[in-house]
Amino acid sequence: MRSIVFSLLVFATAAQAETPRQAAVASAHPLATAAGIEILDAGGNAFDAAVAVSAALGVVEPYGSGLGGGGFYLLRRAEDGLEVMVDGREVAPAAATRDMYLDEDGEPRRGASLMGPLAAGIPGAPKALEHLSSRYGRLPLARSLAPAIRYAEEGFPAHQRMVLSLNFTRRVFGTSEEARSIFFPGGEPPEVGTLFRQPDLARTLRTIAAKGSAGFYHGELAERLVAGVQSGGGIWTLDDLAGYVVKERAPLVAHYRGARLLTAPPPSSGGVAIINMLNMLNKFDLDNLDSVERHHVMVEVMRRAFRDRAEFLGDPDFFPVPVDRLTHPFYASGQVMSMRMDRATPSAGLPGVEGATSGGAQTTHFSVLDSEGNAVAGTQTLNTYFGAGFVPAGTGVLLNNEMDDFSIKQGVPNAYQLVGGQANEIAPGKRMLSSMTPTIMTSDRGMVILGTPGGSRIISMVLQGTLAWLDGADAEAIVSQPRFHHQYLPDRITYEKGALPESVVSGLQALGHELSEARRTYGNMQVVTWDYASGEVEAASDPRAAGGARIY
Ligand code: DON
Repeated sequence: MRSIVFSLLVFATAAQAETPRQAAVASAHPLATAAGIEILDAGGNAFDAAVAVSAALGVVEPYGSGLGGGGFYLLRRAEDGLEVMVDGREVAPAAATRDMYLDEDGEPRRGASLMGPLAAGIPGAPKALEHLSSRYGRLPLARSLAPAIRYAEEGFPAHQRMVLSLNFTRRVFGTSEEARSIFFPGGEPPEVGTLFRQPDLARTLRTIAAKGSAGFYHGELAERLVAGVQSGGGIWTLDDLAGYVVKERAPLVAHYRGARLLTAPPPSSGGVAIINMLNMLNKFDLDNLDSVERHHVMVEVMRRAFRDRAEFLGDPDFFPVPVDRLTHPFYASGQVMSMRMDRATPSAGLPGVEGATSGGAQTTHFSVLDSEGNAVAGTQTLNTYFGAGFVPAGTGVLLNNEMDDFSIKQGVPNAYQLVGGQANEIAPGKRMLSSMTPTIMTSDRGMVILGTPGGSRIISMVLQGTLAWLDGADAEAIVSQPRFHHQYLPDRITYEKGALPESVVSGLQALGHELSEARRTYGNMQVVTWDYASGEVEAASDPRAAGGARIY
């Protein structure tokens, strides 16, 4: 009897220490963050809040994500420790073929995988929202969608980031009168500060609120989506929409320097790459290297992981991705053998995957923690700015251009200069490989929930974010730190202004690295941290953009 009482007491104490003092939301827009807080305040848990933030981001950041796109949602449930990734990634339509973006000569047709409805995969976002809400949430879907519906219906002030990106990507909307009438009323983007309303999108969100995702994938809305896509030269059918399924995937788990990493499995390439990179880093005594050596090692590690991404990563339901091998420490030992401390390994000197051009874009990440300790890291996207730039008439739904994340031809680089081959070639119903890497790391110190947009750079940014946390950085410092990147091909280190001191740049050049300072900043990281000892929670939004981080 005594022992039972004793263990109950221990349990009670432990349970108390395991609860954060507050909840927190960090996202790329203050209104999306406010949507999350509203839902927590209404009695929702982190999963309900995630639905609210996700849907709101799709309204207030139409360039970054939305119902016409997809995303990955990494969940950790406090009560039973359940860890799962909800995979709402788009899939290729049934009529898609491996060479669909190539001309008669087998050469890529310019822009075909990026502009117009032929570039769009079957969206996963509506099903993912419903799944998160019904399987893990506490509130009805309609309640969690309410803030997004309000923002779409009543409007929100057009913000600079949206107006600038509209100006910047004007030509993307070339194929869609409907999209132009929404985003360029009167022929011009809305003026900063004026109210921007999306009544059709509000109606679509209301339909989903009333009928669940069936209101999107079946019936009148589905018919409109398919009619619109086909009128623009796309290949979606009603069966494609009706057949879309969300997949629950076991997250990848790894240990590094006493911390436990929980991260995105395939069809994300990010988790495999980050674990592989940490395994390689483990072979080095980083604290005893000088700054040039440390950066050199980081770059060589990125080069090797990105090379493998190109060869081995794709949708695991279609290609046998060797996850266990690539994430095994022995594999990393082999990779490290090919590194030299006195010179850069030319990418061309590694076993070949062919290829390598440029592009920038959008996507969005949010991190949520509730006061029970439930956590969500969500990264979602339309791929590049405003996706395919196409809205099927009467739906308000901007379509993704995620098909470009497939390898459209062996060795031909995509918008992020990523190359690939068979593992990521197009096939009907297949998910295109992603770099989105929502991640949760825990250690004795506590928990960090993080992620960012940025195409291929997501992977190196999340790596640098986790390393900063392991080094003791707080949420603000993690989102603020300057970043650098190498992705095998092109064989070049790119870095943000200020990321590498002049002495490190010249030191790396002396080792044979090519470097180029990026013209633009990288990413838009959103971080929530929870300190286990004090229960304190912090939230931070990347200073490079105009997001919102709030404690509740
Ligand atoms: O899934 C992917 O990897 C890409 N579609 C993400 C695009 C992205 O992050 C753009 N952000 N700047």
